[in-house]
Amino acid sequence: MILTMTGTVKRYRALIALDHLTLNVHKGETLGLLGPNGAGKTTAIRVLTGLTGADAGKITLFGKELRGKANSADIRRRIGLVPQDLALYETLSARDNLEYFGKLYGVYGAELKKRADEALEILGLTDVAKKTPKKFSGGMKRRLNIGCAIIHKPELLILDEPTVGIDPQSRNHILGFVSEISRLGTTVIYTSHYMEEVERVCSRVCIMDTGRVIADGSVDEIAKAAIFEEAITLEIKEPTSALSESIKKIQGVSRCDIENRTVTIVSAADSGNLARIIEVAAPYVILGISAKRATLEDAFLALTGKTLRDGGEAS
Ligand SMILES: Nc1ncnc2c1ncn2[C@@H]1O[C@H](COP(=O)(O)OP(=O)(O)O)[C@@H](O)[C@H]1O
Ligand SMILES: [Mg+2]
Repeated sequence: MILTMTGTVKRYRALIALDHLTLNVHKGETLGLLGPNGAGKTTAIRVLTGLTGADAGKITLFGKELRGKANSADIRRRIGLVPQDLALYETLSARDNLEYFGKLYGVYGAELKKRADEALEILGLTDVAKKTPKKFSGGMKRRLNIGCAIIHKPELLILDEPTVGIDPQSRNHILGFVSEISRLGTTVIYTSHYMEEVERVCSRVCIMDTGRVIADGSVDEIAKAAIFEEAITLEIKEPTSALSESIKKIQGVSRCDIENRTVTIVSAADSGNLARIIEVAAPYVILGISAKRATLEDAFLALTGKTLRDGGEAS
């Protein structure tokens, strides 16, 4: 185990950003931390890297208990962090940025040059090594920031929403890079609110909401759990709350929400509930019906009542 967080609590005044968060990361895995904006992903990362103190709980990294500022510097040397907000020197060239961060972590001389070359190469920045990031696209800046986080060859690399607001090529490059560095043995924590990214690069997923982990497993395991549900949508001319109450009484129905004319129902799959629902809705004017097996995205909706993209920036 590289990281264990147990019962971690972090409050910002009245707000509980981490609510007894328990999270384990095994050596060599690529863990996806998936959750909507405000779920607590960045706070979890800040706490586990010692940037912010927790109010309660116990954190162990590389077998050592994190004791705030007392030992966070030693532990941080073994971690690479690509923060959600870029941290680069706009007046230094790409190469100088890499070397600056390398020196911070105690890498010097020929070794530093070699590692900077490697980082430029793996992130597709060799051609712009001498340019300052001022004129870089968002995706290039993000790739350079990743380079700065791996220059000291960390055992654990943490990327906080690295693909938000960047071009598709950079996004692909970053996802490919994550798969590659993971193949080479680095443990990775990858946070995102994009389901498809996590499905592509992560071996395990923890879904977070309101400061807690609400689902934990391989992508397949979480998808399998979702397959036991189906989403049924009815279009009804004038739906009433009495209708939704009656639908909710049907065995196997876990949700029924009405928005304007649309009635959305989550029901156990293969329960034969579609026929029962239509029977209950028969006195109303039904304009349309659809039913489909739940996706991972629907599972998230069923678990949290939110979509992953709520309030999210466009990609
Ligand atoms: N420095 C801070 N001061 C006050 N509230 C904060 C601060 N940082 C985060 N929060 C709040 O904590 C919650 C979790 O935020 P965050 O960890 O940034 O979520 P995520 O990274 O999943 O989007 C949010 O409600 C956010 O508004
Ligand atoms: Mg965040």
